[in-house]
Amino acid sequence: MSGQGAKIIAIVTAFVVAAAVIVAMQLMPGKRAGALVGGPFTLTDQYGKQRSDIDFRGKYMLIYFGYTTCPDVCPTALQEMTVALDELGDAARDIQPIFITVDPERDTVARMKEFAANFHPRLLALTGSLDAVKKAAKEYRVYFAKAKNDEAPDGYLMDHTSIIYLMDRDGRYLTHFTHQLNPSDMAKQIRDHLS
Ligand code: NI
Repeated sequence: MSGQGAKIIAIVTAFVVAAAVIVAMQLMPGKRAGALVGGPFTLTDQYGKQRSDIDFRGKYMLIYFGYTTCPDVCPTALQEMTVALDELGDAARDIQPIFITVDPERDTVARMKEFAANFHPRLLALTGSLDAVKKAAKEYRVYFAKAKNDEAPDGYLMDHTSIIYLMDRDGRYLTHFTHQLNPSDMAKQIRDHLS
C-alpha cells in the first residue's frame, strides 16, 4: 500500500471513530446533557428562606431563569409552567417549580414575592448575590447580560437564555422545553418522564 493510501485510511478511520462517538453520545441523552446541565445552587426564596438544590432531592425540579421586569418571554414561560402543572393534577405534587432571577440587582426578595404571586402557588422564586446567581446560571448553561434600552425601566433589559429545565429526583437533567411549546404538550412530556 502506498503512503498516500495509508494516510487516507487513517483519516477515514479517524472520521468513523469520531462519528461513532457522536452517535453513541446522542443515544444516551440523559447522560450526555446530564453532565452538562445542572448543579449546586444556594439562593434565597421569596419568603426569605435559603434554598439549595439539595433541598429538592426526591422531587423533580422544573427550573426557569428570567427576571421580573421581562416584558414578555419570562411571564409567558412561567404561565406555561403553571398551566402545565395544573394539567398534571396530582402528579405535579412531585414537581417543584423554581424561578431563578438573572437580574438580582433589581429582583429583591420582596419583588420576587410580588411577581411569583402571579403564577403557580408552589413556585419558589429565588434571588441572591450577583455571584450566587452567576454560579447557578453557569451550572445550567444559562447566558445572561444587561442590554441597554432607553425605553425600559432603569434603562436596561436582560438578554437571557429562555429554557425550562426538567431535572430528576437526584437533580440530574432529564429534558428541557422552550417557551414556544404549548402547556399541554409540556404536561404530556413531563408525564412521560415521571416514574
Ligand atoms: Ni425574559
